[in-house]
Amino acid sequence: MPPNPKQVVGARASDYVEDGMVVGLGTGSTATFAIRKLGERVRQGLNIRGIPTSEQSHAQARDEGIPLIDFSEITRIDLTIDGADEVDPAFNLTKGGGGALLREKIVASASQTEIIVVDETKLKDRLGAFPLPVEVTPFGWQIARGCLEDLGCRALLRTQEDAPFVTDNGNHILDCAFGRIDDPPALEAQIAAICGVVECGLFTGLAHRIIIGKADGTCEERTRPQPLS
Ligand code: 5RP
Repeated sequence: MPPNPKQVVGARASDYVEDGMVVGLGTGSTATFAIRKLGERVRQGLNIRGIPTSEQSHAQARDEGIPLIDFSEITRIDLTIDGADEVDPAFNLTKGGGGALLREKIVASASQTEIIVVDETKLKDRLGAFPLPVEVTPFGWQIARGCLEDLGCRALLRTQEDAPFVTDNGNHILDCAFGRIDDPPALEAQIAAICGVVECGLFTGLAHRIIIGKADGTCEERTRPQPLS
């Protein structure tokens, strides 16, 4: 049986991590494999410091023995490895399926290089089939939902065990079914302007490299073309 594509890309991405780096540690079933591989390398002598993007990746990294730091000790991150729910040809992403989008976006924004690890099912010609996660404050989230629906989606409050899902930051998530997103940067800006929205799962201009795992156990790497200056 071919190896799990998520495991293949997680391990491949960890090859980009070098001694001395500050490394952003993503969240989700694919990023988990990268953290596991980094743990192995740390136990073999690799010297890195990690910044987790969620309580889940924090716990895993701690169990793996990866030294952790926070933003009080650094100003930038050398490299981050994270997953995604959808990736379009321009390297726009939908993230937040696991509810960690706010910390993931803060870490991605502070990263010199953001590597996204996905299996090939995540590649889409256009974003939007996966409902866009939007993190909102618990106070007045219904108002934000109305504003989001005015942008052309159906927004559902994410729940867990019959209660509103609570993020690591104490907020809620609205999963916004747009169906198709024609202009991700424009929609990201519109959503950011809504009062009560903390952050949305559209990541535009943040991913530098995509590593794609195929069903046959191989992987393909794509680098974002540099904009013409
Ligand atoms: C969590 C995320 C994840 O990276 C995304 O949901 C992909 O997860 P997986 O690798 O399990 O498919 O954005 O907030």
